[in-house]
Parts: sequence; structure tokens; C-alpha cells
Amino acid sequence: MSDPYADDAPEGRFQLGFLQQLWPFVRPYRRGFLACLGILLASFGLELLGPHLLQVAIDGPMRSTSLPRDERLQALLWCGLGFVGTTVGGAVLGYVYGLLTAWNGQRVIRDLRRHLFDHLLSTSLAFHERHPAGKLTTRVTSDVENINELIATGVLQSVFDLLKIVGVLVALFFLDLELALFTVATTPVVVLLSVLFRRNAQRAYRAVRGRLALQNAYTTELIGGVRTTRAFGREGAVADRYAERNADTAASWRDTVLHFSVFFSLVDFALRATTIGLLWFGGSAVLDGTMQPGEFVKFWLYYGMLSAPVKELGEKYNVLQAAFASCERVFQLLAEPRFPPPPPAGRPPVPSPRRGHARIEFDDVGFAYGGNAPVLHGISFTAEPGQTVAIVGPTGAGKTTVLALVARLREATRGAVRIDGTDVRELDLADLRRRVAYVAQDLFLFTGSVLDNVRLFDPSIDEARVWRALETVGAAEFVRKLPQGLASPVQERGGTFSQGERQLLAFARALVVDPDVLVLDEATASIDSASEARLQQALEVSLRGRTALVVAHRLSTVRAADRILVLERGRIVESGRHDELVQKRGHYAAMLAHAEHDLQT
Ligand SMILES: Nc1ncnc2c1ncn2[C@@H]1O[C@H](COP(=O)(O)OP(=O)(O)O)[C@@H](O)[C@H]1O
Ligand SMILES: [Mg+2]
Repeated sequence: MSDPYADDAPEGRFQLGFLQQLWPFVRPYRRGFLACLGILLASFGLELLGPHLLQVAIDGPMRSTSLPRDERLQALLWCGLGFVGTTVGGAVLGYVYGLLTAWNGQRVIRDLRRHLFDHLLSTSLAFHERHPAGKLTTRVTSDVENINELIATGVLQSVFDLLKIVGVLVALFFLDLELALFTVATTPVVVLLSVLFRRNAQRAYRAVRGRLALQNAYTTELIGGVRTTRAFGREGAVADRYAERNADTAASWRDTVLHFSVFFSLVDFALRATTIGLLWFGGSAVLDGTMQPGEFVKFWLYYGMLSAPVKELGEKYNVLQAAFASCERVFQLLAEPRFPPPPPAGRPPVPSPRRGHARIEFDDVGFAYGGNAPVLHGISFTAEPGQTVAIVGPTGAGKTTVLALVARLREATRGAVRIDGTDVRELDLADLRRRVAYVAQDLFLFTGSVLDNVRLFDPSIDEARVWRALETVGAAEFVRKLPQGLASPVQERGGTFSQGERQLLAFARALVVDPDVLVLDEATASIDSASEARLQQALEVSLRGRTALVVAHRLSTVRAADRILVLERGRIVESGRHDELVQKRGHYAAMLAHAEHDLQT
């Protein structure tokens, strides 16, 4: 099996498609980005102007003997002021540029992140089972952050750095052909260094990213499992596992930093070594009178301007690479099909308004998880409006899977599941979700308030309705006793509530939408008898007047059902009422014999 934590896009190559896919997110803010480019160009102009003013000062008023001293001093003052002006202007532009890029980038990232998260919520359960939550978290957080780097500064700055290098070289050639040729002759050394560096740094950087993603995923998972870890006293072992990952990450960071430091020092050295030659050749030119001293200074300063963009490009390359890898992963995620797939064109989903009742029909239904062997075979039965059908059977028989098919969390791979005669796959999904309420075995409470959890963040459900639902299931009493009532906080997946209380909240959550169909996976966890009685009552009230499909473990629930399906290894081996099945002395009777009060297997 492939490692679910493995890095999906380790290469990080640029693809034109990235820009195409990013464009819709950048488009609304394109003016802002254009402004940034304008600012960069303006600041480059100012940067070039500074040395030019110096040259003017040196070759003009400083050396010309034809003008009176006062005028020369005044001209020098103007040049000095101009120089200061370029510096101040550059600083102001830099400030505006920084603000603007951050602002642009954050807006794009906000939109992208939102889109990505929406998409994540709409992918199939099978997809989520294949990918650890921690890894998906990394997609939405750090991968998007990397893309920000690309959008905010990456592309613009790199293009600009290239422009700057070309621009400065052109300026050098205009200033002095021979000297420029000399400096260009030394660039292969720098280029060679960059290539060497890039290859090593690339590898190191990729390792860092991979390790970091791994560590993120592990952190999420290990923290999520804190209860189990505590319960078994395995803190030490878990911490050791974590420490290993942590050390790996640190080691790969060390590698990268090493490469960077060496590269920067070498580039600096190469550029400085060249200046010795510059001094020699330029100095000779000045002595021979073919070059003005001011021109020499200007040349020198322009030449110095090359170092920053060269270094920046070297550094940016890795950032960009990380961003490309992130792009690839994020777009891979966005390409993941939504579940359920959109209905075929020309066949709009069938509306399914709430009716107060529903008929559920399984017609020769088969189901397989992904490419695995089928876990349901030829399941056929009907639940008439208002009936309760109980499903019993050993663990792994496929009970939960049957429920998932009704709620259309998954889709049958053979046959059809119908509600009021229409295949659930053809029903409007929003309608279906309103009509069918699903209470899962491993119910989930969100961080928020009790109110949030019962109405699942749907503000159209008012508090009165929430109270009615709580009342119906018999949870009103315990909620009223909470220090802040409905507003009481739920933390850590409801860890501060008892199993029974959580169950009651889950019932209330299902009933508050007043569904036509209740699909219920009864929890097997044993709870105290008082809660048990309350739950029993809640269950009875909930089932009244609704079509219900219940995976049942309590004998009382099963006994009251209109029909019982005994499921074994994905097949219905028996079905009928409690009394009928008892008389049959088959599978059901055998299960009963094993368990006095509880059909839990
Ligand atoms: N998400 C899943 N991916 C792959 N196989 C699964 C998944 N969920 C359940 N199964 C398999 O399907 C079979 C039926 O599971 P399930 O419907 O949960 O049984 P039950 O609820 O009766 O205990 C089991 O063999 C189980 O291993
Ligand atoms: Mg189950």
C-alpha cells in the first residue's frame, strides 16, 4: 500500500497551467498587481538615477574649473539633494510596495483558501478515507501560503530581478564597452555557481518541504489521538515517534541553510573579486583619459547593483519551486471530483419536497468500497411510510453501509435505493438532505455552543425549535442545567459531555430538521441505566410517525420494529417481525440466545 502521508508532488516544476488556474483568483485584484509592477519600475528608475547624479556631481561642478566656486558648490548641493531625494523616494516606494503586495496576496489567498476548503468538503468520503486529515490541513494552510509567496512577490519580483539584471547590464555597456565586456566575461563563474547551488539546494529544500508536511500530518494525528495515548500510558512512545520526525525536519533545514550560506558567500566573493579587475582596468582608463572619474564611480555603483538581484533570484528559485509544488498539490485537490457527481446534462435533479412520510425501497442493491470486494450483495427490502425497520447482525456485516446508502453518503454500485419510487441518485441532494436525517454511530460534536451543535450552524433554525427538539428527546433538562444553557461551549468534540448526553444531542440534531426519514446507527457503548431509559424514550419519540432505518443493538428497539432484517456478510439472511423470527429458530433466535438484553455482537 502506498504511504498515505507521502508527498504528492515532490518535483515542483513550473507549468503554464498553474498561471491559467490561478488567474481567476488573481483577476479581481489585477489592478493592484499592476500598481506593484509600476512601483517596482519607478523604484528601479530612482535607483539608476542616484549613481547618475553622483557622476554629474563629480565630472561637472567638482572638476570643472570654468565656473566660480559658489556656483559649483551650489550645483553640488543640488546633486546631493537629488541623491537624497532618490533615496527617500525609493524608501517610500518600497514601503508602499510592501504593503500593496501583502494586501494583494492576502486577498487572493483568502479567496483561494475558501474555494479549496469548500471543495474539500464536497469531495467523496472515500477520498477523505484515503487522505489523512493532517495532510489535507497542510494543503489548506502551508500549501496555500506557499502559493501566496508566488503570487504576492514571487512572479513579479523574479521577473523584475531579471529585468533589473538586463537593465543594469545595458547601462554598463552604454557607459563603457570594454569594462562592460570585462565584467560580462566573469559572469559565467557566477552562473556556474548558481547552477551548482541550485541543484543541491533544490534537493535539500524539497526534503525540508516533505518533512514539514509529514510533521504537520503527524502532529494533527497524534494530538487527535491524545485520549488513546493517555489511556494506554503511551505518551513516551508517541513523543519518541514525534521526536524522530522533528529531528528529521531540523536536519533537513540545517542542510538547506548550509547550501544557502555557501552560495551567498561565493556569489559575494565572485562579485568582489571582479571589482579588483574593475579597479585595474577602469583605473587605467581614467589615467588614460578615456573615462571620466565620475563615469568610473557610476560604473562601479551600477555594477554593485547586480549582486542583489542575482542573490535574490537564487533564493527565490527555491521559494518558487516550493510554490510550484504547492500549486500542483492544490490543483490536484481541486481536480478531485465532487461527490455526488453532477447529474448528467439535460436531466435536472428530481425535487423531493418534504411530505411527512416516505417509502424507502432497496432493489437488489450491491456495494463495494473503492476497488475492494463487494460488502453488500442483493439487498432488497421495503420500508413503508411510518415503518421502523431494524437491521441487526454481527460487526462488519454491512449495517452501517446500508444506512450510508439511504443518506446518499455513498452510492450503490449495483441496483437502486429509492425514496417514494425515485432513485436517490436522481433526487435533488439538498432536498434529500432535508428529508433524511442521519445519526451516525460515532457522532461528532463541533467546537462551538450546544446551540451550534444542535442546529449545525443553521441560523434559520430558531432557539424555540431547538428547545422543542431537546424537549422531545428528553435532553432539555440537562441542557437547562448547564451553566450557560444553549450557549454553553462544546469543546474537543464534546469530550466534556457523557456518552449518553452526546447521544441525546445527536438525536436532537436529527429531529430539529423534522425529517421524513430517520437513519440511525445505534451506539453500542453501554451507558448508565438512567440515561439508557431516557435514550430509549427519545428513540421511541423520534421514530414515531417517521420512516426509520435503525441499526439496532438494544433488544427493546428491535422488538418494537415493524420489521427486522438480519444481515450477515452483506446478505439479508432473515427478515420478519420479532415473534416470527423467534419462532423460526434461525439466525435471529441464535443471536437472542447469546445476548439477554443486548444484541450487541
Ligand atoms: N470506509 C470503508 N472503506 C473500506 N471498507 C469499509 C469501509 N467501511 C466499512 N468497510 C468494510 O465494509 C464491511 C461492512 O462494514 P460496516 O457496514 O461498517 O459493518 P457494520 O456496520 O455491520 O459493522 C466491513 O467488512 C468493513 O471492513
Ligand atoms: Mg456499524
